[in-house]
Amino acid sequence: MSEPLPPRRLLLAIESSCDETAAAVIDSNRRVLSNVVATQHELHERFGGVVPEIASRAHLERILPVIDEALKKSGASLSEIGAVAVATHPGLVGSLLVGLTAAKTLALVLDVPLLAVNHIEAHLYACRMAAGRDVFPAAGLVVSGGHSNLYDCRSPVEFDLLGSTTDDAAGEAFDKVAQILGLEYPGGPLIEKIAATGNPRAFSFPRTYLKAERLDFSFSGLKTAVLYAVRGTPGARNRPVLPPMTPQRTADIAASFQAAVIEVLVGKCDQLLSRTGRKTLLVGGGVAANTLLRERLKQLASLRRIELIIAPREYCTDNAAMGALGWELWEREMFSPLDMDVLPGLVRKRAATG
Ligand code: KG4
Ligand code: ZN
Repeated sequence: MSEPLPPRRLLLAIESSCDETAAAVIDSNRRVLSNVVATQHELHERFGGVVPEIASRAHLERILPVIDEALKKSGASLSEIGAVAVATHPGLVGSLLVGLTAAKTLALVLDVPLLAVNHIEAHLYACRMAAGRDVFPAAGLVVSGGHSNLYDCRSPVEFDLLGSTTDDAAGEAFDKVAQILGLEYPGGPLIEKIAATGNPRAFSFPRTYLKAERLDFSFSGLKTAVLYAVRGTPGARNRPVLPPMTPQRTADIAASFQAAVIEVLVGKCDQLLSRTGRKTLLVGGGVAANTLLRERLKQLASLRRIELIIAPREYCTDNAAMGALGWELWEREMFSPLDMDVLPGLVRKRAATG
């Protein structure tokens, strides 16, 4: 008679930091048994961006069905869940609270540890998931709707933030420029699509800090330059009469904007690699789904002879599989107390939560 299999130790990861409600079940080999993502794009589309109150209400409605579906798809029973990981920072406070409350409740009822995951660091951990092996230490770029951050990733649990944006995030710039051009939310994929038929040299938009020796971004000037290209410069004397916004002019503006953002992102990765001396570059976050950015990063990597790991597209935008970072915390017993709170602002170091 064959011995019964020992019970599996599985991680349940929950993500609700912005406008995606997600849950995943991951085994100790970082194998993703299920990854369920319920997006809310249709609810925010007409506002041109995420409305926090709408987001938290939608998370409330979706969180239990999403967790349920993730468990069903994984074939796991609740008794096999050995720990619950949840994105607790950074993000929208109301959205984070829904995920954390669900995670705390499950941890309490199942009597398993709670693991607090940094959402931005999890975006980089998506690269480790894609590689299927250890990828640390490495340099890291996260470009999402809320963040444009440069890291020295010393280990899977030691991420030093070396640079960020002084105003808009890269994804936010894509979304705002899309709004100026009359496109829907989220703007990134739509800008990428229409930019394909535009001339990236038609407009010379600013590349802020590109030449400066500093690991910072600023995209608000670029966004304003696009606004003026579309609507004209306010108060300018002898204001030229702007040509009408034909589909070609829209495509040229989109392509020129995209080229400017990408040149800056790639330029700062180059500086980051020099500063850190790392031989691996990890890139994650929603904007990393952009094809031109992926191509330009590949060129940089071959020029510098470094290893480049960009998260696969399904792991670029928010998902819970990247919450597999929780396994690193679990293995190091970096547990969080059940009375912990969400930390909506970005924290540079891991929160001292236990
Ligand atoms: O990481 P993410 O799903 O959510 C946040 O944590 O913010 O990133 C969403 C952002 C949005 O701003 C969206 O416009 C942008 O990623 N994005 C893209 C592309 N796909 C998504 N930006 C440029 N090109 C894309 N293909
Ligand atoms: Zn994100």
